[in-house]
Amino acid sequence: MCGIIGYVGNNNSVPYIIDGLKKLEYRGYDSAGISILQNGSLVTVRAVGKVAELEKAALLANPKGSTGIGHTRWATHGKPSEENSHPHTDCSGDIVVVHNGIIENYLTLRDKLHSLGHRFKSETDTEVIAHLIEENLKHVSAETDAELLIKAVQKTNAEISGAFAYGVLWARTPGLLVGVKNQSPMVVGLGENENFLASDVPAFLKHTNKVLFLEDGEIAVLRVDGATVLGKDGKVKKPKPVKISWDQQTAEKGGYPHFMLKEIYDQPQAIEDTLRTARADFGKILGLNTEALRGLQNIHIIACGTAYHAGLVGKYYIEQFAGIPVSVDLASEYKYRTVPHRVDTLAIAISQSGETADTIGALKKAKSLGFRTLAICNVLGSTLTRTCDSTFFTHCGPEISVASTKAFTSQITSMYALAIFLGNANGNLSQNVFDKLYKELMALPKAMSEAVKDEYTVRHLTRKIYKADRFIFLGRNVNFPIALEGALKLKEVSYRSAEGFAAGEIKHGPISIIDKGTPVFMLMPYDSLFEKMLSACQECRARGAFVVAVTTEQGAKQAKDVADKVILVPQASDFLQPVLNVVPLQFLAYWIAKRLGCDIDQPRNLAKSVTVE
Ligand code: F6R
Repeated sequence: MCGIIGYVGNNNSVPYIIDGLKKLEYRGYDSAGISILQNGSLVTVRAVGKVAELEKAALLANPKGSTGIGHTRWATHGKPSEENSHPHTDCSGDIVVVHNGIIENYLTLRDKLHSLGHRFKSETDTEVIAHLIEENLKHVSAETDAELLIKAVQKTNAEISGAFAYGVLWARTPGLLVGVKNQSPMVVGLGENENFLASDVPAFLKHTNKVLFLEDGEIAVLRVDGATVLGKDGKVKKPKPVKISWDQQTAEKGGYPHFMLKEIYDQPQAIEDTLRTARADFGKILGLNTEALRGLQNIHIIACGTAYHAGLVGKYYIEQFAGIPVSVDLASEYKYRTVPHRVDTLAIAISQSGETADTIGALKKAKSLGFRTLAICNVLGSTLTRTCDSTFFTHCGPEISVASTKAFTSQITSMYALAIFLGNANGNLSQNVFDKLYKELMALPKAMSEAVKDEYTVRHLTRKIYKADRFIFLGRNVNFPIALEGALKLKEVSYRSAEGFAAGEIKHGPISIIDKGTPVFMLMPYDSLFEKMLSACQECRARGAFVVAVTTEQGAKQAKDVADKVILVPQASDFLQPVLNVVPLQFLAYWIAKRLGCDIDQPRNLAKSVTVE
């Protein structure tokens, strides 16, 4: 789980690489490094900490050269330290490698290479790649150094196993950069007399929006004047470049102090963009299989973290609107439990990044069981989307903040759209009911624009409660997953202890942790369960809790009598209400983290894409 950027062109590569690394920090940020090819030798600078530390070190060392690679790390093998930072070199120091992923057989390879005389300087699995290329260079023959390097890389790929993407520079081949992709992301940016290799598009989007998405097993060979892609069989392939419509500004903060805040405010647009294609896309996805859809008996939803919470909401939707039984699993659990083999099952994987190893692993298992597969994903060309039978894209643009906000509401919106289209296609919803639900769905972006207007109430409230040790979130039915999400968001960015529960469940145990002044957030829209939520408010208040009711205008009057504070959210239909209810909880997490001085966009111990199991 790391970020890779490589540059080959006519300019000094250092500013391109440092800037690209900053855009990739969401992938990991415990150490960083660059290697630049300068006058025939490699100059490497590495630093522990964020890219800003590397930038300072690079300014001092001042390397210059038009071919270079860089890396920002999230440790998997070996602690975050300068020795373990990438790039890693072979014995000669002429080969450098940056790598994302895990080499599963690295210990065996390391022993073998050690017995052949190779000496290692780090604890990482990555260093094995550099030494293996060095070793393999002795066993391949070719007319040019470039061909030699490519052959050695091919031989290396045949010997390493695991999920990996890596970039290589060799001091003997200036103007040449080699990239490999296997189950970890790697893309190529095609510019004018300059080309880029990266883990993700924002790394070079400032310079080009022409992108080649590499497939597993492919090797990219980048030169100043172009890039060649070699397939698994070693033959040249001609992939079509994709034009990315995200501009650089979209990928940057747009004037907000943090990406998280910007992304909360992005939500009306994100939902609108997601819905724009829903009718056509779901029509296509579902229409292709009308016959099969009628026979669909089970749906398995698999996801992790916030995406899992979106899946839990999706279960309510699909069972309500399409009448199909749904199970929702954490991907890391699904992969290792016994899943009965049924031919009439659709597996839906939800993922913002499309690179979450647990989700991809669970999806592969679903495939191996013969299930049809659908991804709900935000990243075009990501591994998940290339593994699934079909994909519905949430078009919410790049989500940079580690804590997911706009992807979550776009995922729920997509699940709602899927459920009603599915219900319409399988005959569970009459056309009239479908039309009504569809109309309500199309009104959601406007309601979301209202929901994001009230940051102030939450901001003001957090002055009173931000020092609390523990926060509780309660909801019922379709708002229960929102309680879980509220707690997760707060934990992630503020490091406070927070728990979400089904409100009906507190009397079975959790109420014992409520103490004098414990902030308890009640998700209580004015629906059929409102009265029950009022009772839960009373129960918590009687134990001394500081009760905050998140409700609509209609519920506010009664909520005022039982809560210490009321936060108003706009009214939507019962089933769309959760999309709006989560907004004050996102602001809450943001403001508590801000008041506590936490690193909001890059919380400690976390990374945006978890590409290892
Ligand atoms: C929470 C968060 C994580 C992710 C989870 C899945 O704010 O960001 O819990 O939701 O790691 O990531 P994706 O959706 O990329 O599969």
